Amino acid sequence: MSLVTVLSPAPGQPLFFLRGAASTYACGVHPSGLLCHLHWGGPLAPDASLAERLESGAAAFSPERRRGAALWPKTGYDTLRYEYPTANTGDFREPAVDVRHADGTHGLRLIYAGHRVLPGKPALPGLPATYAEAPAEAETLEVDLRDERENSGILVTLSYTVFADRDVIARSARITNRGSAPITLTRALSAALDLPHHRHDLLTLPGAWARERWVERAALRSGAQWIGSRRGASSHQSHPFFALLAPQADETQGEARGFSLVYSGNHHGGAEVDQLFRARALLGIHPDGFEWHLAPGESFQTPEVVLAFSAAGLGGLSGQYHRLYRERLVRGPWRDRERPILINNWEATYFDFTAEKLAAIARTAGALGIELFVLDDGWFGKRNDDTTSLGDWFVDRKKLPEGVADVGRRIEAEGLRFGLWFEPEMISPDSELYRAHPDWCLHVPGRARTEGRHQLVLDFSRPEVVDAIYTQVAKILREAPIGYVKWDMNRHLTEVGSAALPPERQGEVFHRHILGVYAFAERLVREFPELLIEGCSGGGGRYDPGMLHYTPQFWCSDNTDAIARLRIQHGTSLVYPPCTMGAHVSAVPNHQLHRSTSMGTRGRVALAGQFGFELDLTKLDEADLAEAKDLVEQAKRTRHLLRHGDLHRLADPASGNLAAWMLVSPERDEAVVTAVLALAEPNWRFAPLHLRGLDPTARYRCVHGPEGEWTGDVLMELGLPLDALSQDFQSLRWHLRRIA
Ligand code: DGJ
Repeated sequence: MSLVTVLSPAPGQPLFFLRGAASTYACGVHPSGLLCHLHWGGPLAPDASLAERLESGAAAFSPERRRGAALWPKTGYDTLRYEYPTANTGDFREPAVDVRHADGTHGLRLIYAGHRVLPGKPALPGLPATYAEAPAEAETLEVDLRDERENSGILVTLSYTVFADRDVIARSARITNRGSAPITLTRALSAALDLPHHRHDLLTLPGAWARERWVERAALRSGAQWIGSRRGASSHQSHPFFALLAPQADETQGEARGFSLVYSGNHHGGAEVDQLFRARALLGIHPDGFEWHLAPGESFQTPEVVLAFSAAGLGGLSGQYHRLYRERLVRGPWRDRERPILINNWEATYFDFTAEKLAAIARTAGALGIELFVLDDGWFGKRNDDTTSLGDWFVDRKKLPEGVADVGRRIEAEGLRFGLWFEPEMISPDSELYRAHPDWCLHVPGRARTEGRHQLVLDFSRPEVVDAIYTQVAKILREAPIGYVKWDMNRHLTEVGSAALPPERQGEVFHRHILGVYAFAERLVREFPELLIEGCSGGGGRYDPGMLHYTPQFWCSDNTDAIARLRIQHGTSLVYPPCTMGAHVSAVPNHQLHRSTSMGTRGRVALAGQFGFELDLTKLDEADLAEAKDLVEQAKRTRHLLRHGDLHRLADPASGNLAAWMLVSPERDEAVVTAVLALAEPNWRFAPLHLRGLDPTARYRCVHGPEGEWTGDVLMELGLPLDALSQDFQSLRWHLRRIA
């Protein structure tokens, strides 16, 4: 049975039903020709009589549709529930798309002009996106809408991919100028839809540097509630994701609808509650700072939004995103491989290292079973602090006289693979590159160039700039034995102008810059398919689905304090699978918060993601070294669960003193459970921790951690006792295996 069903209740007015595993998305063409939203939620059987539900009822002061002289009685433009709303033609809510026509006027009215159903999922040119590996995995509906204005020639094609056996829909839009005059797109969001009521909570993931993705949740109220980034990056501060939750929804029950933008630049999204208490949700590229010139014959493709639905609460919603993103967003051979346990030298040495020092750390790491050594910032140009050399991607012979390849060989001699740090999109004013090409950074003539961390942003809207950086980076990667790259990005964009674009195209720089970033990434993964790339942006500032398409893992945060990490990792896990989340054990007192926690707790928190270390291992005492070795062994024994397991969040660190989560294998024969106490209280006992997702009839033994044997029903109904948690920052981890 096909995933897309098209019914024709009346000529030229098709109804579309997209069937997910346990959900339906439906929309259809209203008698006026406008494409209207019908349903997104639980399963709904295709039925032509549902066409009448596209009607909206009129409202006072709402412009009406007339057919000839007759008033269309039930239709107000401002009250219909749209799929891709427009401006200046009677809908006063937030539009998804707008155009400045050649005559300077604005507005569109988009009328149904045809549709197609395609097997699989077409790629989005130049953009990262989810994908289908076989045509049977997905079906794509494309609906053409044309601007009603005489001689306009503007065609909008909405794309909806429904994946078999999932409850996700990937939506995007393509706008084509088929007219004879140039037009300017002034907004082009990826997706919008009007939900029938406003009784939802809006959940968002705002943050700051070292405090990424804290969960916020509040009931929708009348008017607009937007999230957004104008920073040129998805950013620490806003995150290109939000969810609309039934008010009573929690981790395990209640309807949850997610909106996740596969894009790393500016974003704008959220919900607007209208005069009839319906909720418009939309998401896409931020219209501020965006314009796109479309000459006759040209098209603009938006990035995609991944919509996910679950009737099983936030846990169910996360499950949808986790499975899709780890199976059909991340790409390349590392998608399906267990990732190496790494040691990164950043917090161990910062800029102050020698080849001998690095080899000494690698030697200790090798003895612990660590598999990859990452040389972070400071190996190139003349970089002894953060004031210089970005853009000069050749080794600093003063610091590393024998070169990078020699460091790589020394590391390999210790039995580890070698990885290297780059920050490709940046340029230091104190660099050879800047002295040679002062106009290669984003800048506005006559305006001071604002620095961030003493650096400027390269103009990646220019292919020759991308090419020059790629040439330097690829040379190093070809010459040294490098199996891993950490791709960093440490400031946001200011003075966003390009020396290479004409005045009418300056509004395109933000987006063209991101297209340049993706072009760089695409070239890198094509030439070096075996390279494991970890994304980073001052920690988790660009931890978004766009980058994850190329970088299978992302450094979650520069905050490596185990207790602060709990909330950051919890929020991150709402959308992103644990196998994408870089998490390291660092030194105590912690460098960001000066807090001291045990090696065990730092390790158990880092074991929630792609495990590694970021401290000078040569300075650890015997006891910590033994514990570190045990952590490495645990990481190896359980990393298959990180890749395939289902995550259950058991206790939210923000709403109490306890954080707890578990991963269960798809066969339910193995699980790891972690509980971390933040601050102890006198005369306080935690209720037992109720596990989820196990086989109630199976018997499980703890093979590492507090000893015990329980049946699944006991673990889920009575829970694991937490009496041993009685001191600040204590933690427990159980590795459970089913026994015969
Ligand atoms: C910011 C990153 O998040 C850190 O891990 C480290 O790589 C520094 N940059 C290096 O400058």
